[in-house]
Amino acid sequence: MATEQQLKQTFPDWYEKWLFRSLGLEEEEITSEEILKPLLSLNNHWLQENYNKEEYSWDSSQVAKSYALYYMTANIPKLWVMYNHSKQWQQTHLSNIIDITEYGCGPGTFLWAYLFYLHKHFPEQLKKIRTIKGVDHSSENLQIAHSLYNELIKIDEFSHINAVFKLAEWQEEIANQPKITKINHMTIFGNSLIESSGHMNILETLNFGNLLILEPGTNKHFQRLRNVRDKLVDKNYTIHFPCPQSSKCPMPENNWCHFNVNRFLMPFMQKISNAAGRRNHKHHFSGFIFSKQENQEYNQNWRILSSARKAKGSVIRFLCDGKSVKEVVLNKKEKSDQNRDFIKAETGALGQCSSKLKNKRLYKGDSFKL
Ligand SMILES: C[S@@+](CC[C@H](N)C(=O)[O-])C[C@H]1O[C@@H](n2cnc3c(N)ncnc32)[C@H](O)[C@@H]1O
Repeated sequence: MATEQQLKQTFPDWYEKWLFRSLGLEEEEITSEEILKPLLSLNNHWLQENYNKEEYSWDSSQVAKSYALYYMTANIPKLWVMYNHSKQWQQTHLSNIIDITEYGCGPGTFLWAYLFYLHKHFPEQLKKIRTIKGVDHSSENLQIAHSLYNELIKIDEFSHINAVFKLAEWQEEIANQPKITKINHMTIFGNSLIESSGHMNILETLNFGNLLILEPGTNKHFQRLRNVRDKLVDKNYTIHFPCPQSSKCPMPENNWCHFNVNRFLMPFMQKISNAAGRRNHKHHFSGFIFSKQENQEYNQNWRILSSARKAKGSVIRFLCDGKSVKEVVLNKKEKSDQNRDFIKAETGALGQCSSKLKNKRLYKGDSFKL
């Protein structure tokens, strides 16, 4: 995982001010009933035992506002983790992209995530961004996306960006698109396919220049994503995150490939979570970056899928090279300068290994480097 410090710093200093102002919220209102109740309504897991749907249903503009405040802020860093660990895509292909579309954009979560990422890490590329487009079938969400945009373009670095927010079903909007989108276009689906799982096959009928899909990190959602992934691979898409090689996904059926971010990176999120009695900081997700462009550097590379588990001085981690998933052990006696990165690397990172790991073990002489 990209370090928490890196992720924290990718939020612009003015993020909270921008968000609160766009939502018309004062700091003291963020833990009010008007915010907390719709959040409970959005996610019944918060109060799973006592959940009573009637009690927690709330008017839709209030739900949209709470979503933008809490879930948008929690979701934004997921895109940053994927980009940070996408290596060649981030280093080469990102520089082609000038237009971005998010389908099922809600408040515009991943449009802002994208722009903030460029603002912090690729300011020259931010200058080249031409248009952002958000498509959603909820007018309340789009209204919020509009307010966020209007506030954002008051800031010099973003003032050149045009926006289109379209009230539509994404399936219909896509049907009206040209069949091929260009390499200068990024298409994003963030947590929006859950609600349209019957339509996921539409994705296979199109040719996206660049496509990022991200869904909640559960087994069920991953299995649906994996189907789309395998079909896109059959259509010669390259995967830039997380799979090191674009072959059939080797993950066993009872397991799933997922990562997590800390949802408390912004201090106000901790306040809301405390008020809602929800203290787990981990927000899990599964996601893929696809393109039609080559990914040349993935020889002998392994994606680190789990944190470093320690047992009697040994370190154990799940690794995947796109063809096989292995639970790899580094014994206490085999630790060396050569394989130190295996222990230290963040989950989600890509490491290059001198061994094929046939015995699922790393030895002293094996190098494992990020
Ligand atoms: C969970 S929210 C995700 C919002 C944002 N992408 C994010 O990840 O934070 C799902 C969004 O998809 C929208 N949505 C669901 N099905 C849709 C469809 N068929 N067409 C357009 N929007 C849709 C909903 O209105 C909602 O705003």
